[in-house]
Amino acid sequence: MIPDSFKRDLLNRVDIVDIIQRHLQLKKAGANYSACCPFHNEKSPSFTVSPSKQFYHCFGCGAHGDAIGFLMEYSGLGYIEAIKELAAGAGMTMPEFEPRFGKKKEETGPDLYELMRRAMQYYREQLKASPQAIEYLKQRGLSGQIAAHFGIGYAPDGWQNLQAAFPDYNDKSLKEVGLVIENEAGKRYDRFRDRIMFPIINQRGFVIGFGGRVIGAGEPKYLNSPETPLFEKGRELYGLPQARQAIRDAGRALVVEGYMDVVALAQHGVGYAVATLGTATTPVHVQKLLRQTDEIVFSFDGDAAGRKAAWHALEVCLPATQDSKTIRFLFLPEGEDPDSYVRSKGKAAFEDLVGHAEPLSAYLLSQLRTRTDTNTAEGRSRLVHEAKPLLKSVAAPGLQLQLLKQVADIAGMTQQEAERLCEMRSTPAPGAWQRPAPSKVARAAVKSFELRLLECVLVKPALAGELSGEIIRGDNLEAQALLGLGEYVRANPDVSSEIMLIDHFRGSPYETLLKQVRSELMILGLTPEQAEGEFRDALPGLERRRIHEQLNELQRRNKTGVLSPADIEQMNALTKRLAGLDRRPGTKRPVV
Ligand code: CTP
Ligand code: MN
Repeated sequence: MIPDSFKRDLLNRVDIVDIIQRHLQLKKAGANYSACCPFHNEKSPSFTVSPSKQFYHCFGCGAHGDAIGFLMEYSGLGYIEAIKELAAGAGMTMPEFEPRFGKKKEETGPDLYELMRRAMQYYREQLKASPQAIEYLKQRGLSGQIAAHFGIGYAPDGWQNLQAAFPDYNDKSLKEVGLVIENEAGKRYDRFRDRIMFPIINQRGFVIGFGGRVIGAGEPKYLNSPETPLFEKGRELYGLPQARQAIRDAGRALVVEGYMDVVALAQHGVGYAVATLGTATTPVHVQKLLRQTDEIVFSFDGDAAGRKAAWHALEVCLPATQDSKTIRFLFLPEGEDPDSYVRSKGKAAFEDLVGHAEPLSAYLLSQLRTRTDTNTAEGRSRLVHEAKPLLKSVAAPGLQLQLLKQVADIAGMTQQEAERLCEMRSTPAPGAWQRPAPSKVARAAVKSFELRLLECVLVKPALAGELSGEIIRGDNLEAQALLGLGEYVRANPDVSSEIMLIDHFRGSPYETLLKQVRSELMILGLTPEQAEGEFRDALPGLERRRIHEQLNELQRRNKTGVLSPADIEQMNALTKRLAGLDRRPGTKRPVV
């Protein structure tokens, strides 16, 4: 264990802004810094770094933590590794400590990771004892070192071999992690029998699942762990912890389809490959990799299934694109996979293919072209029609603009024409926070008073103290939130930042609303002075709306002829007040 005192000293020594700045472009926002969150997909920054608290927090996805946590999440480092990296940067020497690898305890239940680690050890020992399994790996060109590097093992034939590794074979955890299966009669047996075992290890170094391949022919060729509390296929990439250093060194990650591809490539010195686990590419896969490298190359077999999988990967990638990162697609010759190719042609030939992989933009455009006949007006129109949803989902503004220009070109129209057809902004969306704040009038035209007030209050919480049931009426969520904020701020006058407000209302019905408003604010970049101005401007609008509502009610009653003298007096007073409000300089027509 690393002593807490060391961790404290370390965190005192480093500056989280510094650490995060190395990976993300931070922009000063008041006392804090902000950026688009690296842990989920977003276009407007809700990721905040607080230098005073030495914490980061994302209002969009809830990710938060200190400098150590950031490195773990962002660079995929383990706890100790993250501390080591920080310590090295701060010139501090690591204390001696007992490693705790594989000992992570679940909060209460048994240690499922430990079970998986023990199973891996067992399978590895069994491999040594099985000449037939060793022979199979040899014949596939794998050395003992590579097998060890990936923790490859062998599950012997037989129904309850795991009893040798787990004396309590009836432990319900064994079933929970998918190592044993229970039939209807309640009889248990090993899931993996007579298979080469590939442990799936997560970024923290824990074994979370296995893939098992039959030796020679047989069905199914690969058997995988089921989804368990430890293992969610769509989030994991096989080989990632082993590839991490090579990915850094090469400056790229290669995504392949199979376990054997990853292992065979590593055997031939291409260490930066990872594999999806028998699933289509997911946004999580893409985000995970883009956090660790600036270039992803997806490799697909050259057949119809490969093309289909590639197009799916492209669609998943578009919202994750960044102008500083490159995504490319490699199509292998028909009948080849990376394993067969590297074994027959060697590392250089394979890397040559990787180096010439098609950029995402080229792949996208060539696909659009082949789907439509650009010799006819109909075909060219259809091309734009098909391009529209794709272009709109591109997150990288520069890439989006480039693609738009090319689509316009292919379709024989001007950029503006294509833009209009694709319903895109006339200028590419700049990094959200660089977008100029829309004028007050433009904002007023689309937003309710309550929303505008919420924005103002988040920027300058003290304003909320002025809000009461007298001013705010209505039972919509925004109005309720305003009243809630007002009450809270009156009781806690020292609340000074939106972080404190959002934190206080976490778990309340207003949480999501406040976060949305907060994201919006990041785009608007409202200063406290502007917020106060808007707030003061909005109050008469609210009052005006309330007066209109009261007048409408009185008029409705007037039609049925039940207006009392007092009602008439009130009507006059309201009308007068309304006229007074409308003469106020600088106020706009109410938008209700
Ligand atoms: N796969 C799977 N279940 C199967 C077949 C395949 O989960 N029944 C997944 C595995 O992750 C496998 C990948 O799909 O690694 C690729 O499968 P395939 O192309 O059939 O196998 P190869 O990787 O070529 O395996 P090998 O070279 O061992 O034949
Ligand atoms: Mn293969």
